[in-house]
Order: sequence, then C-alpha cells, then structure tokens
Amino acid sequence: MTVKLFGLTFKNPVFLASGTFGFGLKFNKVTNKVGALFTKGITLKPRKGNPPPRIHETPCGLINSVGLENPGVKAFCTDVLPEMKSLKTKIFVNVAGFAVQEFGAIIEEIGKRVDGFELNVSCPNVQEGGALFGQNPDVAAAVVAEARKKTSLPLIVKLTPNFCNPLVVAKACIDAGADGISLINTLYAISYDIRKKKPLITGGLSGPAIKPFALYCVHHLREVGVPIIGMGGITSGKDAYEFLLAGAAAVAIGSAILRDPYAPLRIIKELETLMKKNDDR
Ligand SMILES: Cc1cc2nc3c(=O)[nH]c(=O)nc-3n(C[C@H](O)[C@H](O)[C@H](O)COP(=O)(O)O)c2cc1C
Repeated sequence: MTVKLFGLTFKNPVFLASGTFGFGLKFNKVTNKVGALFTKGITLKPRKGNPPPRIHETPCGLINSVGLENPGVKAFCTDVLPEMKSLKTKIFVNVAGFAVQEFGAIIEEIGKRVDGFELNVSCPNVQEGGALFGQNPDVAAAVVAEARKKTSLPLIVKLTPNFCNPLVVAKACIDAGADGISLINTLYAISYDIRKKKPLITGGLSGPAIKPFALYCVHHLREVGVPIIGMGGITSGKDAYEFLLAGAAAVAIGSAILRDPYAPLRIIKELETLMKKNDDR
C-alpha cells in the first residue's frame, strides 16, 4: 500500500483531510495508521471561529461554518507541534492566509518541523475585495510563489471548485512551483430557516452529496502532471478506489470521520482488498 510522492514514502494512500481530525492527537491509533494527516487550517493570528450554528446536516452531507478556529501559528508551534512529533504519520500543515504575505509568514514560522504544507487558497483575499485566492489563477499563483520562496518542503495547493475552473488554477499554481494539488474543498452552500424566513447557515458543503462532483474534478485535472490528492464524500474503500481510477495518487477522508473516527481504518482495509483483487499491488 506504500506510495512515493514528493520524494516522501507514505505508508498508504489514505490521508486525513484538513479540519476534520484536528491535530490527530485524540485518536492517535487512527492517525498512526494513515499515510498522512493534514492539520486544521493554521492562520497567522489565533481565531475563535464563527458563532453557532457551525454545522448543519443536509441529506447526504453537511454544511460547516467553523470559521477556521485555530490557535494561530505561534501557539501551534509551541503548544501543539511538539506533541504531534510523536505521531507515526506524515504531517502536512494546512496554511490559511488572508493576504498573500501571510502564507509566507506562516510557513516561515513553522520552518522544517513538518513534512510539507497544503495551501488553503479557499480563504477570502481581504486586501483585494474578498474573492477567494483560489478563484483567480494569477492570485493563486502569487500565493504559491510567495510560499515557494519560504520553503523547499513539498507544497500542495488545495483548490476550490467554487465558481471557477480548477484546471486553469492548477496549471498556474504548478507553473509557480506547486508540487501537488489537492481537491476539492467544500462547495458553497446555504440552508434556510423557513420559520424565521432567513438563512440558518451559510458555509461549505461536504460529504457523500459532493462525491460525484469531486470525482469529476479529479478526472478533469488528471493530466496536470503533478500528484493529485482527491477528496470529497469518500466513505468507503470503493469510493477511494474510484478516486484512484480518476487519476488521484492518494485520497483524503473528511466528513466521514465526523460520523466515525475509525472510518479511515475500515477504508484502508477495504481499499487494500480492492487493490489486491484488481492486481493493482
Ligand atoms: C468541519 C470541517 C472543517 C474543515 N476545515 C478545513 C480547513 O481548515 N482547511 C481546509 O483546507 N479544508 C477544510 N475542510 C474541508 C475538508 O478538508 C475537505 O476538503 C472537504 O470536507 C471535502 O471532503 P469530505 O466530503 O470527505 O468532507 C473542512 C471540512 C469540514 C467538514
């Protein structure tokens, strides 16, 4: 089940998606069995996140509006990272900036204490009117170029498919020095409270509802020439296998973990069985 990507060897191609497993410390028996952990998005300053409601279930999915709650990069480095060093998996920090320079500053602060970085370009660019960095190929490329100046570690760009063509954005990011692409981040979503006649929650949709679209996005990007980490609605080994067939080099599990923290262990086993059956390993 091992995979070699970005010059690193991962024990299997099943990773934990950003924001759905915290820092991997609470269920370390699970963390230690997966190929990699992508941390919750880390920002320059600490963030309390959004007021409730933060999570809302929909048929086959959930809308979240957590608002990037995290301790900020300084406290992450002093209070969290030392404990994470005992984890037996590859650690990628999900970097969330609100201005191009912030991505570089966060990476610089963390330095070489992790295995790599995942640039979350699904945040609003507050200096430029609030559009998402990842919706504009030039802006996304500027984020990658800034990050590239600060690190020689693997740089993965986590793309949004919201109101943009991720293939165009991916190509610009690869030209700017990205080593890999991960997708998809959550889809724009809203739910209404019909009693109050106003929105109940505005946020990002994830879970099985988005799987066919996520799979389409991976298939759409399969020729970009760098490893793709596919995610969106994976709940079984069969789902994961479909992403590998669509061109992903590895997959990440997100919302499924919120229902069952041990789901990744089952998915690894199911995927291994399928790969053996199909003579892929
Ligand atoms: C509660 C929650 C928090 C998330 N936080 C982050 C985050 O901090 N950074 C990020 O890049 N993606 C974040 N995501 C997106 C997931 O990493 C993943 O891309 C998305 O949920 C699709 O996968 P899934 O359908 O398996 O959940 C979050 C998703 C959820 C449900």
